[in-house]
Amino acid sequence: MPEDTNRSWTLASRPNGAPKLTDFELKESPIPTPGAGEILIATRYHSLDPYMRGRMNPPTPAAYTAPVPVGGVMESDSVGEVIASNSDLFNVGDIAMGKIGWQEYGVLDGRDARKIDPDAAPISTSVGILGMPGLTAYFGLFDVGNPIAGDTVVVSAASGAVGAVVGQLAKINGCRVIGVAGSDEKVSYVVDELGFDAGVNYKTENVAERFQALCPDGINVYWDNVGGPITDAAVDHLAIGGRAVICGQIALYNATSPPQGPRNIARMLLTRRARMEGFLVFQFSDRFQEGLDRLAMWIRDGSLKYREDVVDGIENSPTAFIGLLNGANFGKLVVKVS
Ligand SMILES: NC(=O)c1ccc[n+]([C@@H]2O[C@H](COP(=O)([O-])OP(=O)(O)OC[C@H]3O[C@@H](n4cnc5c(N)ncnc54)[C@H](OP(=O)(O)O)[C@@H]3O)[C@@H](O)[C@H]2O)c1
Repeated sequence: MPEDTNRSWTLASRPNGAPKLTDFELKESPIPTPGAGEILIATRYHSLDPYMRGRMNPPTPAAYTAPVPVGGVMESDSVGEVIASNSDLFNVGDIAMGKIGWQEYGVLDGRDARKIDPDAAPISTSVGILGMPGLTAYFGLFDVGNPIAGDTVVVSAASGAVGAVVGQLAKINGCRVIGVAGSDEKVSYVVDELGFDAGVNYKTENVAERFQALCPDGINVYWDNVGGPITDAAVDHLAIGGRAVICGQIALYNATSPPQGPRNIARMLLTRRARMEGFLVFQFSDRFQEGLDRLAMWIRDGSLKYREDVVDGIENSPTAFIGLLNGANFGKLVVKVS
């Protein structure tokens, strides 16, 4: 491959159900040239996140932003080294992150990139705990979930990028935290290493029975990363005044027909005088610096831990992404590009 080639993963076709490797195509093109005010970044890490599954769909009323066009580069936050700069905001050699996508090189307007201090934390964290997933946990928990010390907080997809942070922030806030995850290893991790009070393996245990046993006074805050049967069971166990924070619905992202389920939600919200609220992290964008500062402080003082699942090589991005939708990742999934 010539040295001036950029490899990019593009959307070859819109999946029907679970994505397949053939829905992605690796294309080669010349390394782009930055224009006025722009910077050229050589990607070190690109993020893989569940929302990217939605970007592969045709436009739907449930989408909150435009999909990736067929033939377009798959979207992601990425972080790398500035190798050319026409921006007053960046010098060559700086580390920058932004929406570069699943590719080796990207051009951004300097105003759309965030400068990363490589001495403050590993740069991969800028797309993880010190990036969109960490901010999602911070604002969703504190601004939407409103946890109070002593509350029982249940977190689904508890070992993942968002869930692991939510549970630890709830512990910092004095709550009792139960994590739901898809393997004994993940459950042990959130309990033994992250300090959650208990865990439920939803693949081997009866989730409703476990919620009943672990939360006899009900769930005060349910963090919903998943939808589906786990959420049905959690809503059934909401405490009076409980809050269900709707962050994601990963169990439904590959669905080919509208989800069916127990229609208990409105009745439970009524009788428990409970609240269910969805949010998107971007609604808090004017306060991102506050979230980043506080997350960094907790990492520094040791009260917030993180785990990354690093996949080596951009050629492996589609396989890793398909795995993310099936629980193959263990921690924040990132691809090491160079
Ligand atoms: N609202 C927002 O602004 C916002 C921002 C970021 C992320 N999100 C959402 O937050 C959720 C978590 O994202 P993340 O980046 O932290 O991903 P992640 O937890 O690191 O990875 C996804 C995990 O979801 C679990 N999962 C997959 N299929 C499942 C199913 N059918 N039932 C239950 N669990 C399932 C798997 O873990 P197990 O092995 O435990 O099953 C998998 O590892 C996603 O729904 C995402 O879309 C929302």
